[in-house]
Amino acid sequence: MSELTKISDLLEEVHNYIPKDQEDLEQFRIKFLSKKGILNDLFAEFKQVSGEERKVLGQQINQIKDVSTSKVNEYKALFARETHSKQLNDISRPGEFAELGSRHPISLVRREIIEIFYKLGFSISEGPEIEDDWHVFSALNFPPEHPARDMQDTFFIEKNPDILLRTHTSSVQVRAMQNLAPPLRLIMPGRVFRNEAISARAHCIFHQVEGLFVDKNVSFADLKQTLLFFAREMFGKEAKIRLRPSFFPFTEPSAEVDVSCNICNGSGCNVCKHTGWLEILGCGMVHPNVLENCNIDSTIYTGYAFGMGIERITMLKYEVKDLRLYFENDLRFLGQFKSVV
Ligand code: DAH
Repeated sequence: MSELTKISDLLEEVHNYIPKDQEDLEQFRIKFLSKKGILNDLFAEFKQVSGEERKVLGQQINQIKDVSTSKVNEYKALFARETHSKQLNDISRPGEFAELGSRHPISLVRREIIEIFYKLGFSISEGPEIEDDWHVFSALNFPPEHPARDMQDTFFIEKNPDILLRTHTSSVQVRAMQNLAPPLRLIMPGRVFRNEAISARAHCIFHQVEGLFVDKNVSFADLKQTLLFFAREMFGKEAKIRLRPSFFPFTEPSAEVDVSCNICNGSGCNVCKHTGWLEILGCGMVHPNVLENCNIDSTIYTGYAFGMGIERITMLKYEVKDLRLYFENDLRFLGQFKSVV
């Protein structure tokens, strides 16, 4: 019976307990709940008891355990909240450093390209990533058997009629010419998709910026001057360009454009493979068939177009050697662009 009297005193003690401070609470915890605390002693004594007394004793001990445990937890949380709010109200406390993010290099260069063409009066136009064959190929004068339509290059979503992921942003030219009347001066950034194995130099998703200028009397000289302006803005005042004859179904004549290597200034290095030049885009005068396909009278209007890969321009500008870095979101890579605003 003496055990039970002692226990009801203890029970009353834990019930009435209110800690003065954190230290006091810790003493209480040690007194009741630690290895050498009262509860462990009680459980040891409990083992010796038998019969009816055992049942009552067990209930009492468990009650002490429950009440003291919840007191400790409850007051611990209360003290933590109090400390936290004290810290919040402490105006002398130094601020915590918040890590700032940075823009993705592709977004940076995309914006840079757009801003350069804004200066020349171009505005932005966008089109869908899921397209039909007509906007991606037929309207752009691709013959039916052209290899670019091949399963190997194009991700098809449906066949007959063909629905596919656009392989280039040139499809947006078609939509713009169909929907807007000339004069047109547009840049068209967007994602494009090609069925290619991923490597340091190729990816199945990448980004392009398309350019289109349609008006009366637009000439190849206008195109050249625009591209020279772009190259100097993007790669520096000293940048030079050269045009090499090329072929695209949707332009005639067509050219590929190189910019003087901004790493060796044309003297030859690994990046430009010792040629002094780096390829940056494709361009040409909009083919009359394309104008006609989009209901623009090719006897009145002429136009030029160009298309560049944002990944490629970024690689050249920031010497990124592996395309896959753009997609891996490794903070050690992305963090290097923090200073570019
Ligand atoms: N669409 C071409 C490609 O993806 C790039 C291109 C070349 C776009 C010439 C043009 C152009 O507008 O005139 O390879």
